Amino acid sequence: MTSNFISFIHRDRIIEVENPDPNETLLNYIRTKLKKTGTKEGCAEGGCGACTVVLGELKNNNINYRAINSCITLLPTLEGKQLILVEDLISKDGDLHPVQEAMVKCHGSQCGFCTPGFVMALFSMFKKYSNFKEDVIKDSISGNLCRCTGYKPIIKAAKSLKNQKKIDHFSKNMENTIKLLQKINNRSIKIYTNDKRYFAPRYVQELKEILKKNINTNFLSGGTDLSLNITKERKDINSIIYMNSINELNYIKNNNKYIEIGASTPLIDLEYYIKKYYPDFTKILKRYGSPQIRNVGTVAGNIATASPIGDCLPLLLSLNAQVVLQDLKKTYLLFLDSFFISYRKTKIKKNQFIRSIRIPLYKKNTFKAYKVSKRFDDDISSICAAFNLEIVKNKIENVRIAYGGMAAIPKRAIFCEKVLLKSLINEETINKAKDALEKDFKPISDMRASGLYRMEVAKNLLEKCCVEIKKKKIIGLYT
Ligand SMILES: Cc1cc2nc3c(=O)[nH]c(=O)nc-3n(C[C@H](O)[C@H](O)[C@H](O)COP(=O)(O)OP(=O)(O)OC[C@H]3O[C@@H](n4cnc5c(N)ncnc54)[C@H](O)[C@@H]3O)c2cc1C
Ligand code: FES
Ligand code: FES
Repeated sequence: MTSNFISFIHRDRIIEVENPDPNETLLNYIRTKLKKTGTKEGCAEGGCGACTVVLGELKNNNINYRAINSCITLLPTLEGKQLILVEDLISKDGDLHPVQEAMVKCHGSQCGFCTPGFVMALFSMFKKYSNFKEDVIKDSISGNLCRCTGYKPIIKAAKSLKNQKKIDHFSKNMENTIKLLQKINNRSIKIYTNDKRYFAPRYVQELKEILKKNINTNFLSGGTDLSLNITKERKDINSIIYMNSINELNYIKNNNKYIEIGASTPLIDLEYYIKKYYPDFTKILKRYGSPQIRNVGTVAGNIATASPIGDCLPLLLSLNAQVVLQDLKKTYLLFLDSFFISYRKTKIKKNQFIRSIRIPLYKKNTFKAYKVSKRFDDDISSICAAFNLEIVKNKIENVRIAYGGMAAIPKRAIFCEKVLLKSLINEETINKAKDALEKDFKPISDMRASGLYRMEVAKNLLEKCCVEIKKKKIIGLYT
């Protein structure tokens, strides 16, 4: 069944919006059409958390709650979901939600501009975790900025939640919400307005049919890159195919040789899954944007964006990942090594989309990755480095090293790898390998770092990796 209207659940009601503007942000809709002004706009680019709302989605007959940035979420993607705003937290009897209560008691607010965003980020934490440890709290609010209260009272409020019963009016009403979500959860969407088109297929076969007739279209996954064309660059996106509506592409599989990640799998799922295999991959993902970003953003979007500072990319290059591309007729397997052509240009052709990503599993190797950015949380990398080494008796038998932020594309350090291969890890080898990085890269200076700094840090990260492997312990504070 295909429809030209979207339906979502808000306050126990099904709301339908006919022919919504495909470029309208959810934030704009909430403030101007729903007339709920608790949700604020700070940056309009996913960076401050003032616009945080929570979406409830059906997952295995349960509801999965996720905090998102409504400023970069396009309204039609709300189809089939439950929308929860800060105004909805108070119970029908007028009782504050435990999260709100805690913020009041711990003085977690001053001017109040950031407060609804914090409350919603903490609400999402409250629903998702059973135990609010310091690292869970800090991660949950890492996408929210406060300029006046400071974070200590907010963290204190979050910690105090551990004494609260987890039952709130959302859990009491869960059965009813599930029934409503089931009612609205099986349609494909096609919206044609005067100048724009929006498609949300449910199956790959349907996607192919749409592609046949709409060559110049934009794939939208999490929208954490694409939507900024609308909110920051004030451009129109006239034709959109929403990929995250295709459940068939939302999976992580493992056949003992490689992990395969479907294109519409959110980064947050990968973050949990991959920890067992590559803990440093998870370490980098924890510092990738914020939970609001990782709840919707995808590896496929990161690869297709092809930014030289895309955080997954050096990691995937060093692990020798493959991209599964698909067009109307067949699928193609491409090594990421040959995927990036030049600055933000890839080998994806018209009518092709990323279907999945395959990450090989190396049973004998050591994998290490580091991100260096001006701010620890929610910041884009100045440099990101990944090292994948097979070491036997202190000798490097296999090596793949890749850096982000050192060239126009994320790139392997081939000369450096040559020095390291079949060498013993010692001071002489490390120094030669550091020198070889000068042949591999000529980094530029920009607002994030100077070329000189980048080169110095790239060398230091290589040394850090080797020293950590030798000493079997982590050196330094953060990375
Ligand atoms: C506040 C903020 C913080 C961020 N922090 C980081 C960070 O720390 N590290 C980092 O690397 N990035 C960061 N980003 C950038 C962004 O989150 C990532 O690049 C993300 O992975 C993009 O994925 P997406 O699913 O949101 O892609 P989208 O925005 O939906 O799409 C991005 C591009 O990929 C194309 N595309 C999407 N899916 C497919 C597909 N299946 N096949 C073909 N093309 C496709 C789209 O057409 C578009 O051109 C941040 C962004 C914001 C707004
Ligand atoms: S307004 Fe800043 S994250 Fe949305
Ligand atoms: S309370 Fe003023 S910005 Fe946080």
